[in-house]
Amino acid sequence: MFFIYKVFLSLVVILLKISLIISVPVDENFNYCEGLKAGLTFFKAQRAGVNEPESEFPWQSNITTKFDTYKNGELDENGIGYLSRGYFDAGDYLKITNPLSFSMTALSWSFLEFKDNIEKCGLLEVYLSAIKTGVNWLIAAHPEPNIVYRQCGVVADHYKWERPYQIYVDQNGQPKPRDCTKQIIDVNNPSSDIVLEMVATMSAASKVFESIDPEYSNLCKKHALQLWDFGINHQGIPSYSEMYDSLDFQDEIVWASAWLSFIDRSNENHYKTYYQGKCDKLKYSNSYWDYVYSWANKLSAACIFIEKNLNENQGVSNSIINYWNTKIPKTKDGIFFIDKWGNNRYSLGGCLLEAIWNNNNNNNNNDSIVKTNFSKKQIEIILGNNSNHYSYVSQFGFKSSKLPLNIHHRSSHNPINFDKFNPINNQYPIVGALLPGPTDLNDNYYEDRNNYEMNEPALDYNSVFVGVMASLINEKSSSVKLSFPIYNENNDPNSVLGFSFKLLIPLQLIILNLISISIIIFLM
Ligand SMILES: *[C@@H]1O[C@H](CO)[C@@H](O)[C@H](O)[C@H]1NC(C)=O
Ligand SMILES: *[C@@H]1O[C@H](CO)[C@@H](O)[C@H](O)[C@H]1NC(C)=O
Ligand SMILES: *[C@@H]1O[C@H](CO)[C@@H](O)[C@H](O)[C@H]1NC(C)=O
Ligand SMILES: *[C@@H]1O[C@H](CO)[C@@H](O)[C@H](O)[C@H]1NC(C)=O
Repeated sequence: MFFIYKVFLSLVVILLKISLIISVPVDENFNYCEGLKAGLTFFKAQRAGVNEPESEFPWQSNITTKFDTYKNGELDENGIGYLSRGYFDAGDYLKITNPLSFSMTALSWSFLEFKDNIEKCGLLEVYLSAIKTGVNWLIAAHPEPNIVYRQCGVVADHYKWERPYQIYVDQNGQPKPRDCTKQIIDVNNPSSDIVLEMVATMSAASKVFESIDPEYSNLCKKHALQLWDFGINHQGIPSYSEMYDSLDFQDEIVWASAWLSFIDRSNENHYKTYYQGKCDKLKYSNSYWDYVYSWANKLSAACIFIEKNLNENQGVSNSIINYWNTKIPKTKDGIFFIDKWGNNRYSLGGCLLEAIWNNNNNNNNNDSIVKTNFSKKQIEIILGNNSNHYSYVSQFGFKSSKLPLNIHHRSSHNPINFDKFNPINNQYPIVGALLPGPTDLNDNYYEDRNNYEMNEPALDYNSVFVGVMASLINEKSSSVKLSFPIYNENNDPNSVLGFSFKLLIPLQLIILNLISISIIIFLM
């Protein structure tokens, strides 16, 4: 009897050990400054037209500054393409005004809320440069009051799988400039969704740089005012657009007018008529898209912004956060689940709303509302505390989580002969790209470069990831330096001394079980 009891106990010990290995515990001492750094690193990786021989991302040593131009190769007085800089959108080489603008607004808004945290991490300069890189490009994409360039590159480019330098030259090695003026937004081709999001971006940036760089701040404000006139006086959206087509722009009217009110207080009453009463529907709407904060949906963000900064809409923010907390579906592991493509961006968009609403909020003093804390839990799941034991951030996560390498990203892969499957592993790992993650309520996820729904990062995803990370900086967080590993062509992070960690895991199990069996025999 005693013997059976001992065997049973030992089995329990074995199972416990196995579960220790195959679970990824929450790291309570996690330094969220590291998370913020990782999120900002992705913005560095996405920079275009930098031509930096010293760049930690090898392909950036090779990038031409003459590529994206206004018209047929026209360059500025420094010999640089007007739109050559800025950011590539995702795992491709397109530059797209709409999600870029969303991302820069989210970064700037988060900066205004969590500046002290960012400073504590020692990442102020890096953060500001991430904003400026995008905002400078948007300024260049707004060359006249009623003209905005919508994108560089066309959807056909998206279907190629190239090394970065291959996009700049034709088959004979001759430079192949990309004209960004073909898809134009003007009074005959309005796109108020994009133009008004740019109002939010320029207003937020103007506020960010108000005391740091007043001249730049004024420049941003000038663009914000012009863009608002353009967006409001010429309303509409194209019946067809290649990518990122928003279905309506009523939310952007509210969003843009609120931001402009915030930076142009003397005209507040003028803008107010465009946002007053527009948030009421969030007290009863049952469509979860109304509560989402993403490149296409800004109403809930606008309403929280207005209640917090402009003292209108009392109570609506709590009902938004409460909706996220109680009504948005969750996967088995507990991630908010909105859509099978790019889900983590929605999950963290909701988290950013919560983080901002709860941050230093004197308006939120209604004691009957239980303050929620879902952001931290969502981030913990994303960093590896999930049934896949995968971090959904490339090359970054909790200890003992699996770190995705083979993300759907052309320059990270660095393909041979335009082949998505050659080489097998991505050659230039990127640290800190938030991946879309699971595609269903059962947390279905696997690391597969070919699956863009699970594995393609994008600017807008990382902008909310950065914001949430900045919000979570706490007393355990400490200053970090933005430094990067040195990569080489044959980099395989799973390989150390020729061993693969993946092979080591079963080996560890065997050793642990042998130890446990020895203990049983000893006890007998
Ligand atoms: C998540 O973390 C908790 C606490 O550290 C741990 O008990 C649990 O096993 C982890 N879950 C998974 C799925 O790894
Ligand atoms: C840089 O460009 C040249 C062709 O101009 C190419 O042969 C080389 O592989 C590129 N290097 C990287 C790191 O992409
Ligand atoms: C506090 O919140 C509750 C629940 O939403 C609401 O019924 C109540 O009117 C609020 N009180 C104040 C003072 O806003
Ligand atoms: C939420 O998190 C904050 C900061 O970590 C903490 O101070 C607070 O007690 C938490 N609230 C709840 C309800 O867990």
